[in-house]
This record gives sequence, C-alpha cells and structure tokens, in this order.
Amino acid sequence: MRVIAVNGSHKHDGNCAFLINVILDDLKMKGVETKVYNAHEVISDCKHPFCISCSSPCSRVCYGQKLTELFYDMQSSDAIIFASPVYFGTMSGQLKCIFDKTRDVRAKKAVLGKLGIAIACGASKYGGQEKTVSAIHDCMLVNGMTVIGPSSSSAMGHMGVCASAPANEDEFAISRAHMAAERIYEELTAF
Ligand SMILES: Cc1cc2nc3c(=O)[nH]c(=O)nc-3n(C[C@H](O)[C@H](O)[C@H](O)COP(=O)(O)O)c2cc1C
Repeated sequence: MRVIAVNGSHKHDGNCAFLINVILDDLKMKGVETKVYNAHEVISDCKHPFCISCSSPCSRVCYGQKLTELFYDMQSSDAIIFASPVYFGTMSGQLKCIFDKTRDVRAKKAVLGKLGIAIACGASKYGGQEKTVSAIHDCMLVNGMTVIGPSSSSAMGHMGVCASAPANEDEFAISRAHMAAERIYEELTAF
C-alpha cells in the first residue's frame, strides 16, 4: 500500500506539512509506504511553471523531471493527499499549476478511481478552508479520483481536514488528521 501527499505550500515545515505528517506518520505505523512532494519545488523544476495550453492532447512540453516523477508516483499510489494553505479563499497557485498540468494524467486515466483527501490550512478561523478543500475536490473529480469523506467510525471532517494556523496548536484539526489516516486505511483495507 502506498500513499503520497502533495504539499501546496512552499514551506517544508509549515502548517500543511505538519498536518500531512500527522496523517502519513499514522499510516507508516500501519506499514503503508509514503512520500511527500512539495508543489513549489515540483513547479520550479518545470520548463514552464504554468500549463501553456500548447497542444491538445497535452504534449508535456512544460513538464520537468520532478513533475514526471510525481505523476508516475501518483499512478503507482493507492491514495493521494493534496494539502494547501488557503490563499485568497482557495488553493495556492503552485498546487493549481500542478492540477492544470494533469491533462495528460487524465487522458491516460492514470489516477482514475484513486482515493483522494484534501487538507486546507488558513490563518483565520473561517478563512476559506472548506472552499479550498472543495476546489481541490473539484480537481480530483475532474481526474476521476474517488474523494473520501468521513465514515461512521472516522469523523475526519465532513469535507476534509480544515485547520487554522498554527496547525500544531489546532487540537481539533490534529484529531481530524488522525481520523483521516484511519479513514484512508479503512478504504485501503476494505476489500
Ligand atoms: C497570498 C496569501 C493569501 C492568503 N489568504 C488567506 C485566506 O484567504 N484565508 C486565510 O485564512 N489565510 C490566508 N492566508 C494565510 C495562510 O493560509 C496561512 O498562513 C497558512 O497557514 C499557510 O500554510 P503553510 O504554513 O503550510 O504555508 C494567506 C497567505 C498568503 C501568503
């Protein structure tokens, strides 16, 4: 079993990173392989940071090595966590750039049916976390992923894990992150 996370923050030790690690540490204890990708690093390595809509179908001219690795890993994983800081009520530009570059992933059905969970952290208590989670869900759904919600035994948050900074002091969000790990594992071991 393999679960990867894409951190939409440029920070390796920020709030999104903290919440990702809560989930991945729990999964590692259950024997799940994990890896974290930093969206900023992946996009900085690309020939163009944005999808430049050069051709249809996508010819991957804007890709870099790190993005190619990420997309290969997405195909090899059972579940993908996407985390983002709330930027102006939605996901970060870096994370959106990655989603914009998934046209080829979508065409190849590379993540069709893969499990997906979203995390959002904002500075304000009602700063747009659920809208950010919803925007990430939209991108997962366009790719045919299966968005996971809570189950009766794991109330990970109705939409996903939403936190207010500093995330390491947001006890409610931390408990939701632990439940998200349980929820992912529940799905991974369901059949
Ligand atoms: C450009 C920008 C826009 C932001 N917009 C919002 C916002 O709309 N709502 C909010 O609650 N926080 C907003 N924030 C604060 C970040 O979401 C917050 O600092 C977050 O915890 C950063 O996560 P990180 O530590 O993983 O980078 C914004 C921060 C930046 C830099």
